[in-house]
Amino acid sequence: MRTVNTVSELRNAVREWRSAGQSVALVPTMGNLHAGHLALVSKAKEKADRVVVSIFINPTQFGVGEDFESYPRTEQEDQEKLNSSGADLVFLPAVSEVYASDAKTIVSIAGLSEWYCGASRPGHFDGVATVVCKLFNIVQPDTALFGLKDFQQLTVIRTMVRDLNFPIEIVGVETVREASGLAMSSRNGYLSADEKAVAAKLYQSLCIARDAILAGQQSYEDIENSALLFLRDCGFQPEYFTVCRAGDLKKAGMDDMDLVLLAAARLGKTRLIDNIYFSR
Ligand code: PAF
Repeated sequence: MRTVNTVSELRNAVREWRSAGQSVALVPTMGNLHAGHLALVSKAKEKADRVVVSIFINPTQFGVGEDFESYPRTEQEDQEKLNSSGADLVFLPAVSEVYASDAKTIVSIAGLSEWYCGASRPGHFDGVATVVCKLFNIVQPDTALFGLKDFQQLTVIRTMVRDLNFPIEIVGVETVREASGLAMSSRNGYLSADEKAVAAKLYQSLCIARDAILAGQQSYEDIENSALLFLRDCGFQPEYFTVCRAGDLKKAGMDDMDLVLLAAARLGKTRLIDNIYFSR
């Protein structure tokens, strides 16, 4: 496995693979890799001859007062994990390699980027869409893989790919969970041992709500309110809990069959998100 830091080195490697007729998959990450990321790499290997993993803590998707400065930087350990994962190339650029100091272009997916996580993190999805668009142009992969844990992010990216005609297959990969049900996340490292035990209740709240819907409970508003109450009782400060249509993340009505429940809540200093999707 090779590590490169510049766009031109990356492009030279991809050009060589392309001239040998090989297909390429991209796994974009911000590092601090865990089993969820390794599941993306493993799926990428099934999809393409060559796998590129990018590790780039993207400053434009962090808001003022968020954890950009303290976000865990674990490049050495990440590369060791990737060495045994079967990735072919790690792209580890500096911020100045990705963004011109006077960059003027922002990719913004209207509406969708302002709801749910976008409401509490203004500009976050513009940062995500812009960097993913740039990575797509840099690597020009056949396939790109993202975790379903960030369901709204995945929907933003799918919408961008459709609207901008990227010839890239977007693959969502199942969330990897701890035995407790807690979704793996780089930010779980911020949780104390006590908080970690409570954090698993976020997934429990989603399972309870899904089961209520599958059992025929009619009012989604009641389901959302009960979930918010449950989370508060567990010690969270919930941000939102919402029953949405899986395709476009608009609020679900009783006619919608493919649903996703999206939740975000703070536990102490840590902001957690999770979701569950299913068909009625
Ligand atoms: O999900 C992430 O780790 C990031 O948002 C991504 C997609 C790598 C863009 O920076």
